[in-house]
Amino acid sequence: MGNEFFTELLGSKHNKSSFTCGKYLLDNYLQKQAGQDLKRKLAVCYVLNEHSIDRIKGYYTLSNSSIHADLIPFELRKKLPPSYNAILTTLIGRLAIDSDFQGKGLGKLLLVDALKRCFELSVLLGSFAVIVDPLDLEAELFYKKYGFIKLPDSGKMFLPMRTIEQLF
Ligand SMILES: CC(C)(COP(=O)(O)OP(=O)(O)OC[C@H]1O[C@@H](n2cnc3c(N)ncnc32)[C@H](O)[C@@H]1OP(=O)(O)O)[C@@H](O)C(=O)NCCC(=O)NCCS
Repeated sequence: MGNEFFTELLGSKHNKSSFTCGKYLLDNYLQKQAGQDLKRKLAVCYVLNEHSIDRIKGYYTLSNSSIHADLIPFELRKKLPPSYNAILTTLIGRLAIDSDFQGKGLGKLLLVDALKRCFELSVLLGSFAVIVDPLDLEAELFYKKYGFIKLPDSGKMFLPMRTIEQLF
């Protein structure tokens, strides 16, 4: 993360209403639901901010999740103990950059920040992979660019933690 930018937990000081990324579901989630999910421990929400301009530039959510072992590509699955049906993973449920700041490299910065956090968490609590749930084809192409692989029979994509580990 560059010197100017940092991520922090969503809190009451943040002005959520000014955030708009062009996707209603993602704007609405931040404005109406993210705070509640945080309180109920369903998901945590980190916002991207900048020291010089106090405004939400982007956000992502993290939560624990699991996927069925059968969904994992055979080459990776064959190395897992056969008794493991549910494989523990970390979900980046939502990730978005405000429209005013898109196309400037902040999406990449935010994804790398999220992956780093996922990797650090995996040291404390086992997690086999990071899962994302792209909203549409555009989002899918964004994640594909960073190596995410589509899971069969699901709109979700994953990146093994072993791959992420090599980044940091
Ligand atoms: C998708 C999104 C997060 C990308 O953020 P961004 O700040 O515009 O992206 P960046 O400027 O960091 O781009 C990083 C790289 O991804 C590429 N990229 C960006 N959006 C892309 C897309 N939709 N498809 C393919 N590649 C994309 C850029 O060309 C760039 O590549 P480069 O490094 O080779 O130049 C942002 O456009 C967004 O919030 N969109 C609406 C919400 C959304 O769809 N979220 C996805 C998760 S559900």
